[in-house]
Amino acid sequence: MDPQAIGDARSPGRRPLPARRLAGVLDPVIPRVGAWLRQRPDALSLAQGMVNWSPPAAVAEAVQAALAAGDGSAVLHRYGPMEGDEELLEAVRIELQAHHGLDLEGTALLVTAGSNMAFNALAQVILDPGDEVILPLPWYFNHVMAVQLAAGVPVGVPAGLVPDPERLAAAITPRTRAIVTVSPANPSGVVIPGDVLAAINQLCAERGLFHISDEAYAAFVHGSVPHQPPGQIRGSGSHTITLHSLSKAYGMAGWRLGHAAVPRQLLAGLAQVQDTVMICPPRITQRAALAALAAGPAWIAPRVASLVERRALVLEAVASGQSQGLPITLPIVPDGAFYALLSCETPLSGEALVERLVIDHGVAALPGEAFGLGGGESRSLLRLSYGMLEPPLLGEALVRLLVGLRKLLG
Ligand SMILES: Cc1ncc(COP(=O)(O)O)c(C=O)c1O
Repeated sequence: MDPQAIGDARSPGRRPLPARRLAGVLDPVIPRVGAWLRQRPDALSLAQGMVNWSPPAAVAEAVQAALAAGDGSAVLHRYGPMEGDEELLEAVRIELQAHHGLDLEGTALLVTAGSNMAFNALAQVILDPGDEVILPLPWYFNHVMAVQLAAGVPVGVPAGLVPDPERLAAAITPRTRAIVTVSPANPSGVVIPGDVLAAINQLCAERGLFHISDEAYAAFVHGSVPHQPPGQIRGSGSHTITLHSLSKAYGMAGWRLGHAAVPRQLLAGLAQVQDTVMICPPRITQRAALAALAAGPAWIAPRVASLVERRALVLEAVASGQSQGLPITLPIVPDGAFYALLSCETPLSGEALVERLVIDHGVAALPGEAFGLGGGESRSLLRLSYGMLEPPLLGEALVRLLVGLRKLLG
C-alpha cells in the first residue's frame, strides 16, 4: 500500500483506511481459489479442508431438546462462563484424559469458537511485539496470520516433514516464545512420531518455551504411527498447549467449536482476550458439542475408516501418473489427516498450477505457497484433500488432476 496514500487518507476529509500493519499480514489463499472456482462452477474440489459427513444425529436432537425446554432453555439466552459451561468442560476433561491420555496437572481448559480462535487468543497472550514463534515448514497459514496479527514474527523453519528437533533448536533466538507442531499434519498428512514430539516438548521445557500442539486431526490416523500427543508427557502441563477441534472429526466445521488445554498461568490473559472477543462461547453450540463428545470415538472410527479407500485412490492415482511418465512424487507417504502433498516438476508456481487446474481442467487443490512451500526453481507443491469427495467423484477429480497435470507439466 502506498504510505503516502495512507498519510493522505488520515487527513481530514479523506476516506479512512485500515491500519498499516495489516499490510504485513499474510493474505488468505482460500478466497483466491474461491474466485477461480466461481469461474468454473462444475469444478471438483480437492482443496477444501473438511470432511463430507454431518455431525452425529444426537447433535441435532440435543439442540432441539434444549430449545424445546421452554423456560428451562432460558439459560441458553444468557451469558455464560468465559471459559465455557462446566458440563462441557467436564466432558472435555474426560475426553482429554481418558481418550488422549493427557496429563492435565497445571493446566486449565478453555472452550472457543473453533481451534483457530484458541490459537489466535494464545498469540495475543504469549507474544510481545517482535517475539518469534517457530513454525516448522510446511506451516498452517492461519497460524502465521494469528502470529502476525499479534505483532509477532512467524519463523518458518525447514526442519523436514517430520520436523528434526535439532534444526528447530538451531532456530531458537532470545525472542522465541513458542514452537508449534501440527500432527497429524496439514498439509503433508504426516503423523509425527511420539518420540519426535517428546523431543520437541523437552526442548521447549529446557529453553523456557511453549509447545503449541495443534491436534485438529487427532482422530485421523491411517497408518502404523499412532497419535501420541506431547501433552501425555508427565509434567508437561506447565508449558504445553493442546488444541482440539470438533470441525473435522465430528463434521462440525460450521458450528465453530474447539478447545484448548493451556498452562494455568495463561488463563488470566486468555480470559482478557476471550471476554473481549466472545464473552462466552455460544451456549447452544456447547450443547451440540456435549452431544458430539458423548457420541465420541466410537462414532468417529467408522467415518475415519471410510477415508482409507479414498487415501488409496489418491496413492493409486499418483502411481498411475508416475507410470505414465508424469513428473510427480509424494515427498512423504501421507498417513494422517486427509491430505497428501504432491510435488510436481514444473517451472510454474503452485498458484499458477492451481489456477490452470481449476479454470481449464475443473479440479481444485491448494498451492504449496499457502503453507510456506515455495517449491524450487523447477518444483511446485500441491495439497490434495480427500475429505470432501467420496468415490466415485474422488476418482473423477483425480482423473481431471492427472489430465490437467499432463498438459501443464508436459
Ligand atoms: C491444523 C489446523 N488447525 C486448525 C484448523 C481449524 O480448526 P477450527 O475449525 O476448529 O478452527 C484447521 C483447519 O483446516 C487446521 O488445518
